[in-house]
Formats: sequence, structure tokens, C-alpha cells
Amino acid sequence: MKKIIIANWKMNPDSDEEAKKLFNFVKKTKAVICPPFSYLHLFDYNFLCAQDVFWEEKGAFTDNVKYVIVGHSERRAMGETEEIIKKKLKAVLKAGLIPILCVGEKKGQDSKKIVLNQLNSALKGVKNLKKTIIAYEPVWAIGTGNFCSADKANKVRKFIKAKFDNKILYGGSVNSKITADYTKIGFDGLLVGGASLDAKEFIKIVKNAGI
Ligand code: PGA
Repeated sequence: MKKIIIANWKMNPDSDEEAKKLFNFVKKTKAVICPPFSYLHLFDYNFLCAQDVFWEEKGAFTDNVKYVIVGHSERRAMGETEEIIKKKLKAVLKAGLIPILCVGEKKGQDSKKIVLNQLNSALKGVKNLKKTIIAYEPVWAIGTGNFCSADKANKVRKFIKAKFDNKILYGGSVNSKITADYTKIGFDGLLVGGASLDAKEFIKIVKNAGI
């Protein structure tokens, strides 16, 4: 099966020119690319993703995206509640877009309890449930270089899968050396932050994932 690799550029790179340069290198991978909002208009590409969304209908979207990240831990850390995340997820589905719902525990928390709570609150009663892509991103592994081992992440993948038959990605300090460990074991793809800003490294990640 084709793997889904997502490049989350966050608030990078610094200029339109840099963004175009990076995009031109990586577009051939056909990976899902999430540039900051201010760059979305620069690209005509079938696999564009927005990094967030507003739940009201008017003026919510730049209309060239196909995917939207919802509930990223960096937004949760800024006060985004389960209720807000649910509203956003519903708005994304209603607009015919594909939500990428991020879930994950903080250091020392019980992953099963936290992840299932987050999933239940966001997905309960939602129509088109299977359209949502779930990204398991342990908060302690994001941007730290301290990724969650594939075996450990796979335990979480399995208990998610037992309740939600959705596509499941892993995210958190992904680099090209560890990519295949996750995709071989059953993850449907990866959500890549920091390493997606290095074109060569990102192309390697996509290759190694067996896309
Ligand atoms: P990272 O970011 O790959 O830099 O850890 C992942 C993310 O924030 O989605």
C-alpha cells in the first residue's frame, strides 16, 4: 500500500524564494506538503496541506488544499481544547477535505489513556469517520531528536487500530535512518517536521518509507 508522508514545514522557511526552492526539490516525491499559510498560494500542487483551520465556514480556507492538520500538540499546548479540535475536525470533513488528527501523550503520561481519550473526544459521532488520518505523535518525541522506538509506537498503533480502523501515521523526530522501521511494522506513513526542511533528507525519508 502507498504510504502517506507529510512534510510539516511549521513556520519555515524564511522567504517566498526559499519556500519555492524547497518545494521544487521535494514536489517530485508527491508527499503531502504543509507550508505555512502565507506560502500556500505559491503552490499549485495536488497534495497541499494546511497546518490548522478555523471552524466557521466563511473564510476558513485557502481553497487549494486537500489536507488539514488538526490538534497538533503545539496548538494543544497553546490552549486548544478537545471541544475546539472536534469543531475543527468536523469543519474539515464538511468542506470535503482530509483531516490529519494528531494525538499523543506527554512525557510520563499513560499513552493508552491519553490517546484513546483524545481520539474518542475528537471522533465520537463524526460522520465519514474513516476519512480521518490519525497521526500518533508522542509530545516528548516532537522536535527533540528523541523519537519513540518503532516497537513502542507499534503498541500504540495496535490499540488505536483496535478501536479506529483508520490510517495511522507516526510522527516525532523522524529521520531517514528510522523511517522504514515504522512503515514495515504497519504504520501507514509518517508526519515529518524538522527533517522535512532538508530537501535531500526528506527525499530519502520518502524513498525509505517505500512510498
Ligand atoms: P519533528 O516534528 O519531526 O520535528 O519532531 C513533528 C511534528 O511536529 O509534527
